[in-house]
Amino acid sequence: MIDRDKQLREAAYKEVEKYKATVEEDHFRLGYHLMPPVGLLNDPNGFIQFNGVYHLFYQWNPFSTGHGAKFWGHYTSEDLVHWDHHEIALAPSDWFDKNGCYSGSAIEHEGKMYLFYTGNVKDENNQRESYQVLVESRDGYTFEKKGVVVELPEDYTAHFRDPKVWKHGEYYYMVVGAQSKELTGKVALLRSSDLYDWKHLGAIAGAHMGSLEDFGYMWECPDLFELDGEDVFIFSPQGIEADGILYNNIYQAGYFIGKMDYENVRYNHGEFIEMDRGFEFYAPQTTLDDKGRRILFGWLGIPEEREEDHPTIEHKWIHAMTLPRELRVRDGKLLQLPVDELKKLRHDEVSYPDVILNETEQAFVGIEGERLEFELKLEEQPTGPITIDIRNHASIIYSAENKSFTLTRISFVDGKTIEERHCQLEELRNLRVFLDSSTIEIFINDGEEVFTARIYPDVEEKSITFKSGQAASVQLRGWMLY
Ligand code: FRU
Repeated sequence: MIDRDKQLREAAYKEVEKYKATVEEDHFRLGYHLMPPVGLLNDPNGFIQFNGVYHLFYQWNPFSTGHGAKFWGHYTSEDLVHWDHHEIALAPSDWFDKNGCYSGSAIEHEGKMYLFYTGNVKDENNQRESYQVLVESRDGYTFEKKGVVVELPEDYTAHFRDPKVWKHGEYYYMVVGAQSKELTGKVALLRSSDLYDWKHLGAIAGAHMGSLEDFGYMWECPDLFELDGEDVFIFSPQGIEADGILYNNIYQAGYFIGKMDYENVRYNHGEFIEMDRGFEFYAPQTTLDDKGRRILFGWLGIPEEREEDHPTIEHKWIHAMTLPRELRVRDGKLLQLPVDELKKLRHDEVSYPDVILNETEQAFVGIEGERLEFELKLEEQPTGPITIDIRNHASIIYSAENKSFTLTRISFVDGKTIEERHCQLEELRNLRVFLDSSTIEIFINDGEEVFTARIYPDVEEKSITFKSGQAASVQLRGWMLY
């Protein structure tokens, strides 16, 4: 008998070897973000701290820079900063996952790691089938598929995927992203006492439920957890129309704050809020670590959004993970901050405590280049617009007059068009900006708003300049990150 699993793994490793040099020659390869060794990376999966080690798995197509039958790639870290890449965790080698080991999550139980993922199957007529599959691991490095534990409940179409499992009281619960037979986005809740035997309890939230009307045709990658006394629900809905400055990407990722009513199988919640205002952010997933922190990774990419135009595909790779963010809830809103450990990357600090920005562009020694962090603090609100130009390619603009924050970049499709994303911002108190060779992540006002994007500036362009329409007094600090 042919060992399909072995064959697939070998083929994937061959691909890594074959294109190693091509991938590594790319000056857009990132310095401190997680990337695929070759091919396409998408969602973070199975994020867990297990025996003190952080494990982050990822959706991986090693064979092309398009989507396909996904594997689970595997990274680990002791500090969320330095990562090791491991052997493939899961390959799409079984009848129940032959078209992809799709997204899922991890949980620890009696000293073992359990993974849940969606087995994606297309039958002879290209009809989709969906199976939720259980995997066991004693050590966190070798994995044994236990098979299908959840078949498709009858209320949904086969767009039923991305199980996230947690424990509450005596039971294990699973949320699954779903589409109702009426083609509306839903989230299904299932319950188990042993992780093997699952019962579908019903949809706990969705379009046309509670206060929501139309809200998309599919909800992907659900994640439900308690934080600072609230039940936060993160998901990635598809089919939401752009509305002014909101929902400008093809698909969204955002959250509700609410209360999970386990007894009545309902999640009661407030309004949808986008998690990230930038161009590329999708399918985030969280875990709770032993310091009690709720940590999130997002995919620094978006499905179907001009993926074939990213310049990295010439070098046989595409997409990355965001930096890990610590979440908090304050005043009914999620705050997202880069985890503290990222300060380990800081080198060559420069500090400019008394800067007056004005209409003349100013550059600051030590705040320039490809891989750096800088922080800007304001004691008083500016009266004119503040503009930060990044490598002649992207800019950050805060308009106190319009109370709006903007990120622009030159489109990677034609290299000319200026694209913009915005959010409302009552005041600007501080900014932390992380630049890697081809990414930008902006954390505003201690994590109140975040903008994440791919940027593809010329390698020679290293300058970062600051100006302001009216004199503005600011403090600046910067670090090279490595
Ligand atoms: C989200 C998603 C998931 C699915 C996976 C497939 O980006 O479409 O719903 O499980 O990616 O790679």
